[in-house]
Amino acid sequence: MTNKIYQLTHPETGKTASLPVREPTLGPTVVDIGALYRDHGLFTFDPGFAATASCESAITYIDGDEGVLLYRGYPVEQLAENSRFIEVAYLLLYGELPTAEQLATFERSIRMHTMLHESLLRFFNGFHYNAHPMAMVTGVVASMSAFYHDTTNIKNPAHIDIFAHRIIAKLPTIAAAAYKHSLGQPFMYPQNHLDYCSNMLHMYFAVPAEAYQVNEVAARALDLLFILHADHEQNCSTSTVRLAGSSGTNPYSAIAAGISALWGPAHGGANEAVLTMLNEIGSVRNIEKFVAKAKDRDDPFRLMGFGHRVYKNFDPRAKLIRKMCHEVLEELGDPNDPLFELALRLEEVALKDDYFIEKKLYPNVDFYSGIIYRALGIPVSMFTVMFAIARTVGWVAHWMEMNADPNGRIGRPRQLYTGPAQRDYVPLDAR
Ligand code: SDX
Repeated sequence: MTNKIYQLTHPETGKTASLPVREPTLGPTVVDIGALYRDHGLFTFDPGFAATASCESAITYIDGDEGVLLYRGYPVEQLAENSRFIEVAYLLLYGELPTAEQLATFERSIRMHTMLHESLLRFFNGFHYNAHPMAMVTGVVASMSAFYHDTTNIKNPAHIDIFAHRIIAKLPTIAAAAYKHSLGQPFMYPQNHLDYCSNMLHMYFAVPAEAYQVNEVAARALDLLFILHADHEQNCSTSTVRLAGSSGTNPYSAIAAGISALWGPAHGGANEAVLTMLNEIGSVRNIEKFVAKAKDRDDPFRLMGFGHRVYKNFDPRAKLIRKMCHEVLEELGDPNDPLFELALRLEEVALKDDYFIEKKLYPNVDFYSGIIYRALGIPVSMFTVMFAIARTVGWVAHWMEMNADPNGRIGRPRQLYTGPAQRDYVPLDAR
């Protein structure tokens, strides 16, 4: 806390509110508005929380104007270049880069929790084959709270760790089970001699009838995508996990709430929506028409994968993923992939258009990621599931931080009420 004070004076009463100021390590100064309602009976109004710091956090920092993204202070570009997803997971959960021994212990623990309870596997038989994988994953993750009664004391450090390792380890297995169910293929058990991303590719694409060799380029591309999707400050789904978790609910249920929020096309569902959009645009000849639709306020069409609440400059993740597209398509896909060519051209046209320039709309993390998932053979319906697997690390890190906050309270926003004033009941025969 600093000794700086913001003074706010009520326009009618002239009464002044003295609001303490708090200085961050990085980013905007915040004004503590607690006294506003307590002493002055006033609420603040900020639908969508565009100017509201909902909590104190030490996990991830974003500078939207400069296009900066730091995980525990480390630039995401450096982590993408030098680290692996499992090491970034440790960093986000525990705050520091691990020693070799800490990393080995953590990775071993994750590998030892990749299998699902056989009763949990039977849940998938209850879904119709054409159920959306996100619906299956949400339901099965929520049902994990029905299985793990041995670790629900959220104030017990050992229980917290086993929850964190279990859910990070099992998400790929749950995702693979959903994918195999949708194909009508047998579920492939995890192979714990494989690393996190190789194991996932094996569970997705191996079949009992023949040997399967993980492609190293595919595994590395997946690992990079997961590093870039691991966390992103107080985004919609992370805020959902924090709010649900603030009631003290079972942590598996709080993560399931986050998966539900991520599914929306305005959030993590955008990566699936981008591929649908690119297929709808179909050809560079139609770009102008669709850009015009995106600019038309009377047309609900938006350029999916463009725009961001925080980034008013390039999303650093989009730049790294676009670069990765070239490498992956050279190695695994069609170097002249028409959808990638279309995406590059669409970006080029949009970024020269005054509408997108004025509104500072740039490609976000979802604009190119689908091109890579598609080149890896992952179907569009699984794109948001891939986002959820990576972001589970961020959700768990934020849940742990929220759960450990000594000043933590249940989240309970207020409102600007514009409904009817009190009125009396009217009997049916008098209406
Ligand atoms: C993610 O928060 C995070 O950090 C999220 C995320 C993460 O890692 O967790 O980064 C992941 O969710 C990325 C965003 C994925 N969503 C999309 O790509 C969907 C398309 N984009 C949008 O719908 C929109 O840009 C949002 C939802 C991303 C941001 O919405 P905001 O901040 O509420 O901005 P807005 O909707 O108020 O838009 C501001 C203006 C509006 O025009 P005006 O009403 O001012 O005239 O820009 C326009 C919008 O119409 N606009 C777009 C546009 N996005 C915003 N116009 C056309 N195409 C778009 N994509």
